[in-house]
Amino acid sequence: MMVKLVSKNFDIPNAHTLEVARNHGRYASLNKLFSMSPDDVTCEVEKSGLRGKGGGGAATGEKWRLIPKNSDKPVYLVINADEGEPGTFKDRQILEFDPHLLLEGIIDSSYAIGAHHAYVYVRGEYVFWINRLQNAIDEAYAAGILGESILGHDYALHVTVHKGAGAYICGEKTALLESLEGKRGHPRLKPKGKEPEWFFGNPTVVNNVETIASVPYIINEGFAAYRAYGTAESPGTMLFGISGQVERPGIYELPYGTSMKEVIYTLCGGIKGGKKLKAVIPGGSSVQILRADEIEGITLDYESLKAHGSALGTGGIIVMDEDVSIPEVMKNLFEFYHHESCGQCTPCREGTGWVDRVLAKIIAGKGTQEDFKTILDACDMLNGKTICVFAPSVAFIAQSYIQKFREEFETLIQ
Ligand SMILES: Cc1cc2nc3c(=O)[nH]c(=O)nc-3n(C[C@H](O)[C@H](O)[C@H](O)COP(=O)(O)O)c2cc1C
Ligand code: SF4
Repeated sequence: MMVKLVSKNFDIPNAHTLEVARNHGRYASLNKLFSMSPDDVTCEVEKSGLRGKGGGGAATGEKWRLIPKNSDKPVYLVINADEGEPGTFKDRQILEFDPHLLLEGIIDSSYAIGAHHAYVYVRGEYVFWINRLQNAIDEAYAAGILGESILGHDYALHVTVHKGAGAYICGEKTALLESLEGKRGHPRLKPKGKEPEWFFGNPTVVNNVETIASVPYIINEGFAAYRAYGTAESPGTMLFGISGQVERPGIYELPYGTSMKEVIYTLCGGIKGGKKLKAVIPGGSSVQILRADEIEGITLDYESLKAHGSALGTGGIIVMDEDVSIPEVMKNLFEFYHHESCGQCTPCREGTGWVDRVLAKIIAGKGTQEDFKTILDACDMLNGKTICVFAPSVAFIAQSYIQKFREEFETLIQ
């Protein structure tokens, strides 16, 4: 069931050091890379069907195409290593066990889009991983793999690590860019049509760590080898992070299209202590919750999760057993969302607080039937016109908790 395209070196001792990494294939794609034109590299990634692994699943090649060819402005690649989504812990595995894979992917991708400077924006709490990555970058510079002339080729690339300051919203790509520009991490209003991102007014691509770490395999083995895994619409693999009450939680690299039930009951050894499954959050905390009876037939790909009323998101699967209180889970999440709303939009700033306070009241045994209406009204407001998708996502998840587990809230009210 497991396939190791990205996680191939995770179990090799000291694979984070340049010597071991190189002995196990890292930077092998560079010779092939420099024999290709940047456009050929983008074509290969386009044909592989690689989709972004930061939550949205956007087509990576298509996104790279938005960078104007022969831009008279500098082009930047920004790697999103903010990993703030609750239940998500995959990117840090790459930074810990195989940082040179990320650097190789950064070189491949920067070359494709014509960037000579890449930034890695890492969440500030990831001190250990920031150091790991910085050590790998230092090693790569010393070996001539980064710098003015990469391995003697006529191509320069510099990589800078930037520490975030712990705001969840800075994972949103435009807030991240604001923060990287030295401003407050507030999401930007999005243009109507398709455009690249802009960093100090220069065309920029923002991609997730795992997305970029998937590129060397595609360059080395070709797009068809990548497409051999997964489904037609969701090709390849993803690092799924399974947490909660299963016997064997952890990170599993799986082809898209793998059965969710098989993952929980076979790969992860079933529900801890032989208890019954109550609910699953399938893609990080910002996607709709699923009841145990809803997981039948779900496969881990964008299309299946969407068809079942949720989303694949970051692939962070949170498994909850029969003893978990869903109102408590929802309260926990809304404390987080209220705290993390950046506050630019009134419906989001106020609505998340309303839901949090009403949930506190219900949990304290002081709830009334009216509270359902207040929460659902707040959701209506959240799902209005806001600057970023934080608010509508939070509205959808709140509705799913109330609709699917209403009896648990009713019991507390009674
Ligand atoms: C509130 C919010 C938080 C986000 N946090 C992250 C994050 O921590 N890491 C990430 O890669 N993408 C995050 N995203 C998605 C990014 O905005 C962006 O779509 C992604 O980095 C693009 O990379 P990809 O196409 O490779 O997935 C977040 C989005 C939102 C709305
Ligand atoms: S929706 Fe919320 S998080 Fe997004 S910009 Fe508005 S206030 Fe900030």
